[in-house]
Amino acid sequence: MTFDSPASVEDVSAALADHDYLADEGLATSIFLAMTLQRPLFLEGEAGVGKTEVAKVLSRWVDGPFIRLQCYEGIDSAQAVYEWDYSRQLLHLRAAEATGRADATDEASLESELYSERFLIRRPLLEALSPSPARPVLLIDEVDRADDEFEAFLLEALSDYTITVPELGTITAEVPPLVVLTSNRTRDVHDALKRRCLYHWVEHPDFEREVSIVRLRAPHVGEPLARQVASMTEQMRGFGLYKPPGVAETIDWALSLAALGRSELDGSIVETTLGTVLKYREDQKRVSEKGVHEMVKAALLRSGG
Ligand SMILES: Nc1ncnc2c1ncn2[C@@H]1O[C@H](COP(=O)(O)OP(=O)(O)OP(=O)(O)O)[C@@H](O)[C@H]1O
Ligand SMILES: [Mg+2]
Repeated sequence: MTFDSPASVEDVSAALADHDYLADEGLATSIFLAMTLQRPLFLEGEAGVGKTEVAKVLSRWVDGPFIRLQCYEGIDSAQAVYEWDYSRQLLHLRAAEATGRADATDEASLESELYSERFLIRRPLLEALSPSPARPVLLIDEVDRADDEFEAFLLEALSDYTITVPELGTITAEVPPLVVLTSNRTRDVHDALKRRCLYHWVEHPDFEREVSIVRLRAPHVGEPLARQVASMTEQMRGFGLYKPPGVAETIDWALSLAALGRSELDGSIVETTLGTVLKYREDQKRVSEKGVHEMVKAALLRSGG
């Protein structure tokens, strides 16, 4: 193993920040524990709070392969664990027949040729347990979109980092991957799966941290504009919108305003650029009704303007 566990929660925060991710203490602690105890980390939270990004940042930090399993309705083990390359197996068999080798070889050895590693297609879960020079990071993204039954596969794989391929035997990871599962909580994930994981609810960042994130991710956006935009999205999150803006929207909005040559907000630019931050007509209407000018006034105050 080339990667040692972090020494402290502070080390985790610093390393994440080095890779452009600003975690609060709760999240940094969960990541520290997941790495130290070698347990999967289950991250739940609203859209755009930075769940998926955690896994990406971890893989850059530990410099291991980044393996992503995107969940969706109907996903099964063939897409998640492994599959046999049927067409290549067939070609192999045809070739054996054409050369007369099939007649000379007994059925059992021909079969074991066909079900050997070379015809195995490794899908993300199996790939993450395969030998690797550095610790892999396995992202199981949006697990709430998969069906109940699919969780059984995950349970087996995550309980002891082992997967059984009937034709080949049991495959156990030499270096357990760092596993991050994310969910938007469109449905509740089974307790059995959660029990194997450390759980953390990812909140929207507080105002100052969001300003720092914008400054980090969009360095050419000036401090006052970053503060004004962060204040606006913070206010919007209190309006009970259908889809409150995430961090990604705050960053996008700041980038858009900078691209338009703005260094300050005013009511009319907010109205014309609202589509970068609110993606539902009803939400835009709601914000307009709340009074954009009042919001801008509050935002200017927060930036000292
Ligand atoms: N704490 C943070 N530090 C730095 N950047 C962040 C942070 N949180 C979010 N971001 C930024 O916000 C973007 C969106 O985050 P991400 O895609 O991880 O959200 P998510 O929680 O997975 O959302 P969804 O539920 O929609 O998939 C990231 O690409 C990143 O640029
Ligand atoms: Mg995500």
